This record gives sequence, structure tokens and C-alpha cells, in this order.
Amino acid sequence: MKVTIDEHTIEVEPGTTVLQAARMIGGDCVPPTMCYYSKLEDCGGKCRCCLVEISKGSERDPRPMPKLQPSCVTAVQDGMEVKSATSPRALEARQAVTEFLLINHPLDCPVCDQAGECDLQNLAYGNKNFKTRYIEQKRTYEPEDIGPYIQLHMNRCVLCYRCVKLADQLTPERVHGVIGRGDHAQISTYISKAIDNNFSGNMIDVCPVGALTDKTFRFESRVWFNKPFNAHRDCPHCSGKVTLWMFGDHVQRVTARKDEYHEVEEFICNECRFDHKKAEDWVIEGPRKFEKDSVLNVNNYTRQLKKVKIDTDDLVLEGRKQDQKKISMSEFPFDQAEMEAIKKANEE
Ligand code: SF4
Ligand code: SF4
Ligand code: FES
Repeated sequence: MKVTIDEHTIEVEPGTTVLQAARMIGGDCVPPTMCYYSKLEDCGGKCRCCLVEISKGSERDPRPMPKLQPSCVTAVQDGMEVKSATSPRALEARQAVTEFLLINHPLDCPVCDQAGECDLQNLAYGNKNFKTRYIEQKRTYEPEDIGPYIQLHMNRCVLCYRCVKLADQLTPERVHGVIGRGDHAQISTYISKAIDNNFSGNMIDVCPVGALTDKTFRFESRVWFNKPFNAHRDCPHCSGKVTLWMFGDHVQRVTARKDEYHEVEEFICNECRFDHKKAEDWVIEGPRKFEKDSVLNVNNYTRQLKKVKIDTDDLVLEGRKQDQKKISMSEFPFDQAEMEAIKKANEE
């Protein structure tokens, strides 16, 4: 079936969501996400950060949907037309949702281990939430110890449920969940029982904020001072494919590898994550080249650029004033000098 998002049309399989279709197109039309995670089952629909405007429901029923829809749980219909980055309504609503998430969020960034790779920071920056109107007391929680490896900062939690879905999917017995509702909802282990199964560390990776952080990396370094390297080891429990965050020769942190949407490619076990902090334990493949836009890749490793081949005269693509008429007026052919320049550009 066909769907058009921000003027880009794409063919997708039935059952594809608007968000998945947008990710296939890529670029600015991809809505931000806080709760959706493609590697987790039954995930999304909680945060409303991914709202889009459906300007045409489908070919059969072209009426627009009156309310904005969360793109991560809205299935594509044939002929659907969606406005994402081109919808002022959607952008305004996303900004309002972000403001809502920030109402109770502490200003911990200077001391928060997630800073630099935090989806909430990126979301607030992307949605231009630079000011707060909130003057009331923020909601706070008593600190709770949930085990030797994971640090829970409930004050920073955005209740996206990703960690709960991950525990459901990866661990045989989930020992934590969201208790309470509305303003009192919180992540807890009920009886402060330690989360001690061998894949629990992945909760740190899926948490979009600094609510669940690595205790073994706590206050060790700001993430942008580390250099990420892809590495692997022979592991009997998981694929053993990880990212090492190094400071010189010292491995300061081990995480799963993440894709451009900041989602884990393959979940790793706690042994790889917490027990192998020596460079000799790993086969280092090389520096990571692919990273979501964030403070981490400023002056660092950047996204690999794919050369796009467009079938038209090369100089027209340069966008020079004198070339513009060639696009609209085919009777203006290139003159001799321009032909020479095209030939030279092709040879370079
Ligand atoms: S979770 Fe993100 S936004 Fe919140 S304090 Fe940490 S870095 Fe800042
Ligand atoms: S602890 Fe993190 S992953 Fe879990 S619900 Fe809160 S923000 Fe989401
Ligand atoms: S990402 Fe779609 S509702 Fe959270």
C-alpha cells in the first residue's frame, strides 16, 4: 500500500506503522520517539512525542483525521497522506508534550550520566523547549536501591515503560514494574528486590533518559570524553558484539551497539557489559562510524554519507542562478563553456 509523508510517497507492507514508513523514508519527516522501541514487542503509544497529522485517511475514506495521531501505533492505510515535520499543528503538539515531560524533570544534566546521549535532551532541543513556565514544586521520589549494577533515579523517569517491556521480553521473571497511577506512578521493584538476571543491564540501554544508569560507570566521565569502538568477544550467553567506550586504553563502559535511532541492535548479557572492562578481553574492530545526531558526534565520528546519484545534468544540481533557467526552460541548452565545465567536473 502507498503512503505519503511530507510529500514523499513510499510503498509499504500492510501492517506497517506511520513511524516505520517515515523511518524508511528517513530525514526530517521521521518523528521523535521516547517510548517506541523497534526491538521491543508491544511497545509505544505512551509518550505522544511522535504525533503526526493525518491529512488524508486513505484512498477509500479520504477524510482527514480530526485529532493528531501517535505515529508509532497508527497503521498505514492505502493512499494515506501524513504531515509530520510540515505540520505546524504536530510540531506545536510535540513541543507541548515535551514541556509536559519536563514539568517534573529535574535539572540534573550537569551531573547526569545520560547527558550527551539523552533522548530527552535531544527532544527538548529539537522541539525548542528552551524555557519553563512551571513554578510549582517538582515531584520527587525517595532513592531506591535496585541492585549492584543499575542506578535508579526515579525523578528522571518519563514513564515510557521501555524497561518494563524489555524485562517482559528478555527475562524469565520480571521483578519490577510501574506501580501507582497518574502523578504517583513510579518504576519500582515492589520490595526493593534486586534485578539480578543476566540480561537486566539492557534496561540501561533502552531507558531514553538517565533514570536507569550504569552503576559501574557512575560519575566516571562525561560520555563525550569517551571514544566509542566496536568490539566483540566469544560469549556463551549473547552475540558478544558491543561498543566499548574508551578513555585512552581504559575501557570505561560497555554498551550494546545502537543504530541511528539510538536503539540497541542486539541485546548483550551482563557479563559482557559489567565484567569485561579490560581492552585485552575484546577484539577491537574499529571506531564507530554511525551515531544518532547528538553532542556525541560533534567533531567526532559522523554518519557515513552515501552518494546520491540523480539522473540530471551535473551543473544544474549546483543550483547556480544561470542554471536555474535550464530546469524550467529546455530551449536554453548549455553553451560551450558550460559543457567544458561539466566535462571537467565529471573527470575530477
Ligand atoms: S535524563 Fe537527560 S534531561 Fe534528564 S537530567 Fe539526565 S541528561 Fe538531563
Ligand atoms: S526507568 Fe527509564 S525505561 Fe523505565 S519507564 Fe522510566 S524512563 Fe522509561
Ligand atoms: S513514541 Fe509514539 S507514543 Fe511514544
